[in-house]
Amino acid sequence: MARKKIIAGNWKMNMTPSQAVELVNTLKPLVVNDEVDVVFCVPAIDIIPAMEAARGTNIQIGAENMYFEEKGAFTGEIAPGMLTEVGVKYVIIGHSERREYFAETDETVNRKVLKAFEHGITPIICCGESLTQREQGITIDWIRQQIKIAFLNVTAEQAASAVIAYEPIWAIGTGKVATTEQAQEVCKAIRDCIAEIYDEATAAAIRIQYGGSVSASSAPELFAQPDIDGGLVGGASLKPDFGAIVNYK
Ligand code: 13P
Repeated sequence: MARKKIIAGNWKMNMTPSQAVELVNTLKPLVVNDEVDVVFCVPAIDIIPAMEAARGTNIQIGAENMYFEEKGAFTGEIAPGMLTEVGVKYVIIGHSERREYFAETDETVNRKVLKAFEHGITPIICCGESLTQREQGITIDWIRQQIKIAFLNVTAEQAASAVIAYEPIWAIGTGKVATTEQAQEVCKAIRDCIAEIYDEATAAAIRIQYGGSVSASSAPELFAQPDIDGGLVGGASLKPDFGAIVNYK
């Protein structure tokens, strides 16, 4: 069965609650497309107002992060139960900015992934190499390691429902999009790695996004690749361009 594309926005640390409502209202007529899953991953404080603004549309509101404990003395963190109570179904885990600025590691990513599944939330698991790693020729080795650790103790059934976002760090927010060949090569390597860990059926089911300077002009070719099942979009998800990206065909 063909995989349904999933196109997600990552708002990062942008939009106050009132701005979030305004943006959802602006984008909702533009992102209508029943052939793809459309997700807006928004700052925690925007989740509830964005959901209210998106009610009755095809837009799913997701989170940008989540902690791996149920509750307790973890100042500033968001618990999985807080997300599920308001209806969140997707959470970005291990974005490179969280790894770089907030000391997330492959191990904490794995704990968050397991916790998300425990709560029935679909993790959008991020991986990606730095420019140095690409220049050293270790991109595939690095990504395989990130994937193997992220999926430790994850069952095949859970893995089949997961989303992986391949985001080369050097392409994020730089306007420097990976070439279609580069993106497809790594997304295929990720799918092969999932097949090695699990089996072909799991690899065929899992959805793999590309992220990094996706725009209305680069989306059609990227999303036409056999192993690219959509995108994780930063800057362009805050603009009407996101409508063109969702309707890339
Ligand atoms: P840009 O689309 O702004 O490059 O960001 C990509 C990203 O980090 C999405 O998670």
